[in-house]
Amino acid sequence: MQDLRSNKTHDEMRQGEALVYLPDSVMLSGRRFYIESYGCAMNFADSEVVASILQEEGYASTTETHLADLILINTCSIREKAEDRVRKRLTEFRQLKKQRPGLVVGVLGCMAERLKAAFLVEEKLVDIVVGPDAYRSLPGLIEGASGGQKAVNVLLSREETYADIAPIRLNSNGVSAFVSIMRGCNNMCSFCVVPFTRGRERSRDAASIIDECRTLFNDGYREVTLLGQNVDSYHWIDERQNVTVTFAHLLEKVAAVSPLLRVRFSTSHPKDITDDVLYSMAAFKNICNYIHLPVQSGSTRVLQMMNRTYSREWYLAKVERIREILPDCGISTDMIAGFCTETEADHQDSLSLMQKCRYDLAYLYFYSERPGTLAARRFQDDVPLEVKKRRLQELVNLYREHSLLSMQRDLGKLFTVLVEGDSKKNENELFGRADNNKVVVFSKENYKKGDYVQVRITSCTAGTLLGKAEMV
Ligand code: SAM
Ligand code: SF4
Ligand code: F3S
Repeated sequence: MQDLRSNKTHDEMRQGEALVYLPDSVMLSGRRFYIESYGCAMNFADSEVVASILQEEGYASTTETHLADLILINTCSIREKAEDRVRKRLTEFRQLKKQRPGLVVGVLGCMAERLKAAFLVEEKLVDIVVGPDAYRSLPGLIEGASGGQKAVNVLLSREETYADIAPIRLNSNGVSAFVSIMRGCNNMCSFCVVPFTRGRERSRDAASIIDECRTLFNDGYREVTLLGQNVDSYHWIDERQNVTVTFAHLLEKVAAVSPLLRVRFSTSHPKDITDDVLYSMAAFKNICNYIHLPVQSGSTRVLQMMNRTYSREWYLAKVERIREILPDCGISTDMIAGFCTETEADHQDSLSLMQKCRYDLAYLYFYSERPGTLAARRFQDDVPLEVKKRRLQELVNLYREHSLLSMQRDLGKLFTVLVEGDSKKNENELFGRADNNKVVVFSKENYKKGDYVQVRITSCTAGTLLGKAEMV
């Protein structure tokens, strides 16, 4: 696990089951809370909402568990491994609780619903359990827990978007920030637990999103990532103006905040991404040329069992369309190896699809059955673990070849890089990101965090472009 105060990227956070530490608060009295987050960017963004709710209640933050009166862990359920890590951490917190009986420990997020009974009653690991749509009830639940009650609220909502809550930015580099534009998911991919942990899809008021982005820009931020499990189905009816705001409209409105504010988004579903979105990206220079378009499998038969609602051919046509409208667009994916009934031929289809798409970035997993999902109820998890792992490794090996080629293709090119901070390895170097999402490292000279710098690429590693700043 890695400290997110380092150069951790949005994508690493999105995928990694990593930690968040809050910076030590300037408030030196009163109650203190400590929070750790695991899972995707949406969970990290939620921790910022939670921090805001707690601050309103007079809580100060701390990075030290031994100084905290309240320890919260914002959990992920996407794969079994993510759950195992949280359980281990909670066991460590239980030891702290033995030393300090007044300490309140709470579980937030995607494990809350499924494991509330286990955490609260059977294993007695925690005092409070709060689901992703119930964070407004945290203050009352904490009060109850301080009085010795076990407190739980895992109700999912059809309306909650926390639109009116201004998130407190955690581990912020002061340059890039996540902005949630919707919650939940209606897609019911058969392998996925998210529709059960986060409930029905709902979009956030467009005006509140634009306000949040404008405030971020005025506070010095230069990049926002609009977050949703399926951003292309964003849909908001603006009753005052009697118009419907689609994702393409929203992108344009956020891009119009300032040409100096970069706009990214995640995640796009292949069945929903429209030409309108691609045209908006082409029309606004500050909407970054990068699309995360998870395919999950290259076999139409497996895609059907996954309930992804598109075929291999449909997906490939989408990638084609992206390259037609946005020739320099970076494309990344998620893929799952060893889903139920996957044969060697299906696996070869995944490899050959990868060969055709030549992804710039790929997040690759082996299938982990999640209790309660459609796949767990309908299909047998029948691919042996060693076969899943071998297939995953084959996907990883091929992806590595492609990502290196993708890096090498950029040698000699000039990129506009938004500087995010000092390079991890060398304090005389800065790191930032090109429009296509690749990390670029270059010599510091007089540049600083938040600057846009023209960088000529001179060499590369498998994951980083190295270059030199140029005056233009
Ligand atoms: N909403 C996004 C989408 O549709 O692609 C991302 C959802 S999920 C948070 C991120 C990734 O985790 C998925 O794209 C999928 O590849 C992976 N994933 C989800 N459930 C999984 C499971 N049961 N086993 C292995 N990987 C899984
Ligand atoms: Fe899960 Fe599918 Fe929704 Fe993504 S689109 S969150 S994979 S159900
Ligand atoms: Fe995200 Fe994990 Fe929940 S990936 S939506 S935190 S199950």
